[in-house]
Amino acid sequence: MDHATQHDRLLIVDFGSQVTQLIARRLRELDTYCEIHPFQNVTEAFLRDFAPKAVILSGGPASVPDAGSPRPPQAVFELGVPVLGICYGQQVMMAMLGGRVERGEGTAEFGRAMVNATGKPLDLLEGWFAEGPEQVWMSHGDHVAALAPGFEVFGTSPGAPFAITADPARHFYAVQFHPEVHHTPNGRQLYANFLKIAGFTGDWTMGAYRDEAIRMIREQVGDAKVICGLSGGVDSSVAAVLIHEAIGDQLTCVFVDHGLLREGEAEEVTGMFRDHYNIPLIHAEEQDRFLDALEGVPDPEEKRKTIGRLFIDVFQEHAGRIEGAAFLAQGTLYPDVIESVSFSGGPSVTIKSHHNVGGLPEKMGLKLVEPLRELFKDEVRELGRELGLPERFIGRHPFPGPGLAIRCPGEITRDKLAILRRADAVYIDQIRRHGLYDEIWQAFAALLPVRTVGVMGDGRTYDYACALRAVTSVDGMTADVYPFSHDFLTETATRIINEVRGINRVTYDITSKPPGTIEWE
Ligand code: XMP
Repeated sequence: MDHATQHDRLLIVDFGSQVTQLIARRLRELDTYCEIHPFQNVTEAFLRDFAPKAVILSGGPASVPDAGSPRPPQAVFELGVPVLGICYGQQVMMAMLGGRVERGEGTAEFGRAMVNATGKPLDLLEGWFAEGPEQVWMSHGDHVAALAPGFEVFGTSPGAPFAITADPARHFYAVQFHPEVHHTPNGRQLYANFLKIAGFTGDWTMGAYRDEAIRMIREQVGDAKVICGLSGGVDSSVAAVLIHEAIGDQLTCVFVDHGLLREGEAEEVTGMFRDHYNIPLIHAEEQDRFLDALEGVPDPEEKRKTIGRLFIDVFQEHAGRIEGAAFLAQGTLYPDVIESVSFSGGPSVTIKSHHNVGGLPEKMGLKLVEPLRELFKDEVRELGRELGLPERFIGRHPFPGPGLAIRCPGEITRDKLAILRRADAVYIDQIRRHGLYDEIWQAFAALLPVRTVGVMGDGRTYDYACALRAVTSVDGMTADVYPFSHDFLTETATRIINEVRGINRVTYDITSKPPGTIEWE
């Protein structure tokens, strides 16, 4: 049994929109349990099994007039539950219920648009149009040309005469715009109204989740032992504390110190988990093993693979000594689990081989405990707060598995790592002092493999250049550069050059993602 079966559930049928995940996040923020499933998987049998209390049909890149364009099963409209169609979902709904969709010629609309009310009341629109037209975000080529029987128009925009339509008797609603994005400022209200119409009670809260999760971990694990790889990141930390609450000392954490951690990081993690929470913790001090293996390895992929391979070996050795261990705990999140809609069918290109412990459970004969599988990152943070983890831990920027190795382009040496650690610490200290830490998704220093000439006092210097990076992002998939003030940057550069021996030049990386990646390797 999982959490889902104990809550009212909403089904989001995904047609491949870039923003489908945002729909789920909006609903979760409204304390509602929902799941995203690709349209290919949503069969009649699936629907019966899932028993949603409401359905949302997402947007997507396909075109309804095209032969073979994706459809949900007709049964979606026979469940007797409210259905909301968004963008492509709106068009597919209209086509399947007897309306007509036309290819966009001259009616395409992308970006901000204003929607006007037609004046008729509609339960979905409670709180809308109170102060005139509403701003929404449009992104469509095709458009609805004739409404399905039973539907009426409740909102229009210059490019979409059928911007908001509904069949109020059957509780079918269809909007051409995206209420889930920030550019539709009042979008949350639409979702709240939809949930109210469907009878959701807001029973999905992290307080309740914590108690249920603890019960379920106990049920799953019994009196067996569990190993948890602790990285110091939010996900594995929350998973560890949650599991420890459930089964106490049946849990042992393994913290692999690969010599590529930041300043003070090992002390912070061991202090927190071993000393504060009293969780049995193995601190695997394997710095030499990793750094020796990385000697003379400048290639980024080679570095990542070396670290990944060693990490698994080390983890296996230490974890293998825990007698009776039958489970491996992982901080897998919902976005890792959602299957994405693939129209091309081909695998996507590998940009970087990510570091994880995949394959380890089978090799060691371990079963998985993944108590965060149903949560988004913000929910994990909230759960962390429920569990009393300090804010400093919960709000931490992500740190990659290969650590400083990928922030030190080219060959790594112990000396370079020491310089990088100091520079990074000064930079983060600056960010915290200026109160900017929580505005930034990720910030770090990278040590460049070039030495440059400088002048300090009366002498010539020939030292390394360092690059600072800070980005904003929602999920790490895309990122914008954080716009520090000029004063902040110059003050930070001065501090780094004065306080860190070995660096005589500081640059700020102003590349967004894409085309850059967040890390340097
Ligand atoms: P990139 O550099 O690909 O990074 O733009 C996107 C996000 O992923 C993190 N990252 C990793 N995290 N193992 C991890 O656990 C890895 O191997 C890894 N590589 C990159 C990166 O820090 C950023 O948050």
